[in-house]
Amino acid sequence: MSETAQFAKPSWRDGMELEYADLIARLEPLMPCLEIPLHLPWIDAINRLKKERGAVIMAHNYQSPEIFHGVADVVGDSLGLARAAADCKEDIIVVCGVHFMAESAKILAPEKTVLIPDLEAGCSLAASITAEDVRELKRQHPGVPVVSYANTSAAVKAESDAICTSANAVQVVEAMGSDTVIFLPDEYLGKHVAKQTGIKIILWHGHCEVHEKFTAQQVRHVREAFGVKVVAHPECPPEVLEEADFVGSTTAMGKWLEREQPEKVAMITECSMSDNLKVQFPHTQFIKPCNLCPHMQRITLPKIHAALCEMKHAIEIPADVIAGARRALDRMLAIGRREPA
Ligand code: 13P
Ligand code: SF4
Repeated sequence: MSETAQFAKPSWRDGMELEYADLIARLEPLMPCLEIPLHLPWIDAINRLKKERGAVIMAHNYQSPEIFHGVADVVGDSLGLARAAADCKEDIIVVCGVHFMAESAKILAPEKTVLIPDLEAGCSLAASITAEDVRELKRQHPGVPVVSYANTSAAVKAESDAICTSANAVQVVEAMGSDTVIFLPDEYLGKHVAKQTGIKIILWHGHCEVHEKFTAQQVRHVREAFGVKVVAHPECPPEVLEEADFVGSTTAMGKWLEREQPEKVAMITECSMSDNLKVQFPHTQFIKPCNLCPHMQRITLPKIHAALCEMKHAIEIPADVIAGARRALDRMLAIGRREPA
């Protein structure tokens, strides 16, 4: 394929409607029908290019439906994507998610090319703390183990004893075998872990800018107005979690739906999650919040296409930081193997 052909905006071709009939049926309930023909040429071009390059596309559960259903080979929560990166056979990984997720993939697969379609796709939690902040906390609390949430930079991970995600935070903190643990940077997830474990948690003041917006009053309203079950992500404030029927990671939420099969559910988390689960649970009525993560939304089909065409933006991390962060991530993966999340 010539460079010009690679960079040309893909256009509609005859037969696409038939070839993508299954995908169209999946997308139709999730978006205005006029949007689908705009997405299909990009989806088609990305899927072809992905094969040519021998790349795998990994997408977080918060990616928009045309990415999640249209081009992703692997979908999951932060833990699932980290595990998939550690085990993947392909030499090129395109991470459709935020920067810390692409960094985790690079730390676990340093010999591979890891691409993120938009370098600016950040995270308010990861931005809330630096490696120097962690070193200062360790000086203030000598000998206390540090557990960092996956939503942190590689440099912060390298200063930590272990990493956790929302799927395994309780197990990882308990596995430290200490009556006090420094937990970074999500204050609300830290409080949730303290409540579940009884372990004294030294907290940081980081918050997710999407989940911190939910209020207990909103949850009570949605329950009373729609008679729904409520499922919440542990990045929500404690008073929201108090009101929920279930608290868990994005993947745990899906598993809960599988077990409980509720007639109606309100997903107190990023908005795209409900869209992506709707396909799997056609008989459940989803009451969608409208909180979108602006960082996740930076990833679009044209940017994924450009990432594969131009092999950009490759994640680079200094070798010493990779080594430190790898030790902390491996500790999490080892705990997960003993006690699956
Ligand atoms: P999960 O690990 O549950 O996928 O959460 C990641 C995240 O960024 C949620 O806001
Ligand atoms: Fe970060 Fe919140 Fe966006 Fe998740 S939803 S990536 S925690 S800002």
